[in-house]
Amino acid sequence: MNILLHTIADVSKYLAEVRRSGKSIGFVPTMGALHEGHLELVRAAGRENLEVIVCIFVNPIQFNNPEDLKKYPRTLDSDIAKLGNTPCTMVFAPSAEEMYPEPDLTEMEFGGLEDVMEGKFRPGHFRGVGIVVKKLFEIIQPDKAYFGEKDFQQLAIIKHMVKQQNIPVIIIPCATVREEDGLAMSSRNQRLNETERNIAPAIYRSLLKALENHQWFTPEGLEKMIIGEIEQFPELKVEYVSVVDAETLLPFSEWEEVQHAVVCVAVYLGEVRLIDNIRLY
Ligand code: PAJ
Repeated sequence: MNILLHTIADVSKYLAEVRRSGKSIGFVPTMGALHEGHLELVRAAGRENLEVIVCIFVNPIQFNNPEDLKKYPRTLDSDIAKLGNTPCTMVFAPSAEEMYPEPDLTEMEFGGLEDVMEGKFRPGHFRGVGIVVKKLFEIIQPDKAYFGEKDFQQLAIIKHMVKQQNIPVIIIPCATVREEDGLAMSSRNQRLNETERNIAPAIYRSLLKALENHQWFTPEGLEKMIIGEIEQFPELKVEYVSVVDAETLLPFSEWEEVQHAVVCVAVYLGEVRLIDNIRLY
């Protein structure tokens, strides 16, 4: 049995004891509806820390689409059961009132990382992510925090925030966990019907094709190739395909210009918005 806490006061009391015992604290923030991708973060935290805290909180202020917030799966009981088979020692599941007793008016700026891709199509999203992650870091004060590469831009923004604001936490990136057919695991996959679920792996297949063939294209040509591959399926509607510098998230025109390149995509499949990415080099 993990300990389940709902208030910041209880977490502070609990953590005072943990700190006295000298255990290092690993922290995994999530919005619940846990799948193997989340559980891998928890296992990674367990390999490096004796105390592993998982937060489950559907953060309302990072949803730019009210319908998406309403439909977001909330499965606390089964999430806790899944965490029972992991190194997780405490689950923090606060209410929105607990996290936001007053509307949070903090402005957030991430050196331009927030203006492209997800930031462009989901206005306010990264401000909401930045605010909640900063609050959670202040409440938990972890030694290390674990984030998935699945949300590549989110990871870049969190790293930037921690550096910019001198937050004393080490950010540990973890590889994207996929279904056997390549589809990146996501809480949103639950909302796909059977036909959609069978089509969805085409997104990752197009990224693998990009990885294998990028040298034959310009970065812009590669984006067009990927869009063509994905849109062979009329059910898939590309929102963006961006070949960017993995550090700045900015586009570039020659492969030699950047040390590491990544392709990020967002695609609608019916009502469901899926994102994925792959590092090219
Ligand atoms: P959520 O989408 O629940 O994801 C929680 C963490 O799990 C994130 O770091 C995310 O990148 C990681 N993750 C999700 N799917 C993954 C996969 N298939 N493989 C590896 N890691 C995966 O991201 C959020 O919640 C929120 O924005 C949050 C950071 C909790 C702030 O509210």
